[in-house]
Amino acid sequence: MNQSRPLGLVPAMGWNSWNTFTWDINEQLIRDVADRFVSEGYKDAGYEYVVIDDCWSLKERDPNGNLVADPAKFPSGMKALADYIHSKGLKFGMYSCVGTHTCAGYPGGFEHEFQDAKQLAEWGVDFLKYDYCFKPRHMSGELLYKRMSLALKNCGREILFSACNWGEDQVYSWIRESGAHMYRSTGDIQDSWESIKRLAISQLDKQCYTGAFCHNDMDMLVVGMYGGSNNGFIGSAIGGCTDTQYKTHFSLWSLMGSPLMIGCDIRQANPATKDILLNRDLIAINQDVEGRGAYRIKPEPQWFHTDDVFMLVKVLTDGDLAIGFFNLSDDQREISLQFWDLGLPYASGFSLSLYDCWTHQELGTFRERYSPVVPAHDCLVVRAKLVK
Ligand code: GAL
Repeated sequence: MNQSRPLGLVPAMGWNSWNTFTWDINEQLIRDVADRFVSEGYKDAGYEYVVIDDCWSLKERDPNGNLVADPAKFPSGMKALADYIHSKGLKFGMYSCVGTHTCAGYPGGFEHEFQDAKQLAEWGVDFLKYDYCFKPRHMSGELLYKRMSLALKNCGREILFSACNWGEDQVYSWIRESGAHMYRSTGDIQDSWESIKRLAISQLDKQCYTGAFCHNDMDMLVVGMYGGSNNGFIGSAIGGCTDTQYKTHFSLWSLMGSPLMIGCDIRQANPATKDILLNRDLIAINQDVEGRGAYRIKPEPQWFHTDDVFMLVKVLTDGDLAIGFFNLSDDQREISLQFWDLGLPYASGFSLSLYDCWTHQELGTFRERYSPVVPAHDCLVVRAKLVK
């Protein structure tokens, strides 16, 4: 879908092994995911990167200092896996780390940046997630991301650079200049409503720091996991979320311009999960080519609403507005949007024709205000068109 676009123009879409599988990865799993991307419509919807996270290598480099794929997990090697993924018209992603070791204790990229970039290019890698563990204390993270960015840009292959420093060291203030195409702005997501809510709210005032070629990455999606991680911290000890909560999670990530990296086991995805992940109207908002962040409107009366009830508005390339009415609170709320707050006074003569991006139906034409009632933990996302 995005193949003809310059690298990193819009948020990346794909799948990452970490949330569900952590250390328990192998080449068959990765091939299965690539197969499902094609056979179940993920590829057609725009998902393209199949990414292996931590725990893919041996614990030692070879005598030449090269990284070695664990032969027990990846007996055919990374080049063959990349070829397979490419043969499906998809792209292949891998993982490393700025430090001496990855977070799970495998060799990191520190002082091997140019060598590793060359190796990744030889394997046919298209995407590198670069983590922040075991960073030598005397080195600045900013410098190490600049280093890897330069190495990747000069390795002879187009590789999307996904920085992952968990929002530390005011990353938003220097990451765009480093050359990274996306940057993690938060700590690790967990498969819980509290986590989704916390991450989203933490980025509401950082929307001016996302956009084309360097997207604010709020972490991989937990949609459809239902507590099904092999890692207690991520989900198995937490129990997962409801479909309504996953729907709201996907809506927030879409409107806020986060990359959409699926984290569930798509081989087990139920119809509700697929409806969410394959929602073309939401994906179109996320992939809008101008890549603008969303601004927040606090509903009136402000004294009544807490910080977990808000509207997000994303100005789209064609002049439409994507508007999300989010109720992250525990009670049903009426959320009233005054069109004045969108820059649309009554005297302009314009009304808004609203289309519901979840039911995929027209809601009608409204003048001056629109006030939906939104159940707890739910949202309404509309695409609004100015009409006279
Ligand atoms: C964390 C990172 C996670 C995952 C993990 C692997 O630092 O935020 O997304 O990559 O390391 O060990």
